[in-house]
Amino acid sequence: MADATADLLDSGERLDRDALRALQLERLRSSLRHAYENVPFYRESFDKAGVHPDDCRSLDDLARFPFTTKTDLRDNYPFGLFAVPRDRVRRLHASSGTTGLPTVVGYTEGDLSMWADMVARSIRAAGGRPGDVVHIAYGYGLFTGGLGAHYGAERLGCTVVPASGGMTARQVRLIQDLKPRIIMVTPSYMLTLLDEFERQGVDPRSTSLEVGVFGAEPWTEEMRREIEQRFGIDAVDIYGLSEVIGPGVAQECVETKDGLHIWEDHFYPEVVDPITGEVLPDGEDGELVFTSLTKEAMPVVRYRTRDLTRLLPGTARVFRRMRKITGRSDDMVILRGVNLFPTQIEEIVLRTPGVAPHFQLRLTREGRMDALTVRAEARPDAGPETREAAARSIAAAVKDGIGVSVAVEIVEPESLERSVGKIRRIVDLRPR
Ligand code: DLL
Repeated sequence: MADATADLLDSGERLDRDALRALQLERLRSSLRHAYENVPFYRESFDKAGVHPDDCRSLDDLARFPFTTKTDLRDNYPFGLFAVPRDRVRRLHASSGTTGLPTVVGYTEGDLSMWADMVARSIRAAGGRPGDVVHIAYGYGLFTGGLGAHYGAERLGCTVVPASGGMTARQVRLIQDLKPRIIMVTPSYMLTLLDEFERQGVDPRSTSLEVGVFGAEPWTEEMRREIEQRFGIDAVDIYGLSEVIGPGVAQECVETKDGLHIWEDHFYPEVVDPITGEVLPDGEDGELVFTSLTKEAMPVVRYRTRDLTRLLPGTARVFRRMRKITGRSDDMVILRGVNLFPTQIEEIVLRTPGVAPHFQLRLTREGRMDALTVRAEARPDAGPETREAAARSIAAAVKDGIGVSVAVEIVEPESLERSVGKIRRIVDLRPR
C-alpha cells in the first residue's frame, strides 16, 4: 500500500487481517444475537434450523445459519424484519420491486452514520478528498443511490451538488458551471450524459471531472475504457444494495482498479453455490451473500443477493475484494441450454467498430424455442457496409465466445431508449 494512501485510511482500514477477523467474529456474534432476540422471523428460522447465536464460535460457523431471501423480506413487508422499536427508525428506503411488493428497509441514527462513513470511505478510495465538489446524479428518493451518496460525500467533507437523475440538459450545464471533480451516477446514465454533451457541442473531455464513481448496475471493463476515454476521467466501481445498506458496501480503489474491496468490517461476505447453497472457497464463482455486522434497525443474516461474483484477496486495502459483478442470477438468459449474461454482450458490442455503446436484448419465442436478438446502435458515421460488418462480427463473437446463435440488428443512432438511472437491458417479449 502506498504511504500516501496509508495516511488517509480510517481505523477500520488500518486493521491487519487477524485483528479484522477477530473484530468480525465479535461483531457477528452480537449481530446474530440482536437478530435472534428482536426479530421473530430470525428466531423462528434459527430455531427451525436448530442453531442458536451461541453456536457461532468461529466465522466458519456462520455457514450453519439459514439464508434470508428477498421473499422473506416481502413476506414481512413492511416492518416485520425490524429489530428496533419504530420510533428509533430515522429513515426508510424501498427497493423498486419489479415484481409485486416493494421491500422496505430502515435505518437508525447509528445506521445512517455508519452508512455515511462507508460511503465517505468509498469516495476516498475512489480518489475523492475533502473539499472536492461532487455531482450526484443517482436518483434521490426511495432509491438508496442519491441520499446514500449524498451523506457520504458530505461526511468526507465534500461540496455536494444534489442533481439527482433526469433533466439531462441541465446536468451538463451544472457540470460546466459548478466544476465538480467527482461524479456519482449509473454508468448507463453517464452514457446518456455523454450524448447530451455532444448534442450541445461541448467536448466531454474538457470538463473539470476527474473521477466517476459508477454503480447500481453491472458494467464491464470495456465500458470502463469507453467512459474513461470519452470523458478523460478515472472510472471506478461502487457496489451496494438496499437490503444490506445501499451504496458503499464495496468499492474499487482508484490506484488499482482491480475489483471492489468489500468493507467487511461491517458487511461479512460469503460466496455460495447458487443451487446447493454450499459455501465456496475464495476464488470460486458463485452467489454473493451478506451478513450485516453492525446494523441496528434491520440486521440481515446470510442475505442472498443473487449477484454473481467471486471473492479475492485484498490489494490496495486489507479487506477482501470481489470481482466486478457478472450479473444477477435473475438476469441470466438461458438460450437453448446456454447461460448468457447481458455483460457478456456488452463486452462484445463495445469492442465492435461502428457501433455505439447502446444495446438491448430482445427475447422472443419461435415455436418452442427462445430466441435472442441483440439490437445495437450504429455510430452516426457508420455507413451501410460498416453496419453489416458489425452485425456479422457481433453474431460471430457471440457464437464463438458464448456458444449460441443470436440475431443481430444494427439500429439507427439514437433510436434505443436511454437510461436515466438503472438501465433495463432485457426486453422479454415471450408469451407468458
Ligand atoms: O443499487 C445501491 C447502489 C446505488 C449501489 C448506487 C451503487 C450505487 P438496489 O436498488 O437495492 O441498491 O439494487 C441493488 O443493484 O443487488 C446488484 O444487482 C445491483 N448493483 C448495485 N451496484 C452494482 C455494481 C443499489 N457496482 C442491486 N455492479 C444489487 C453490478 C450492481 N451490480
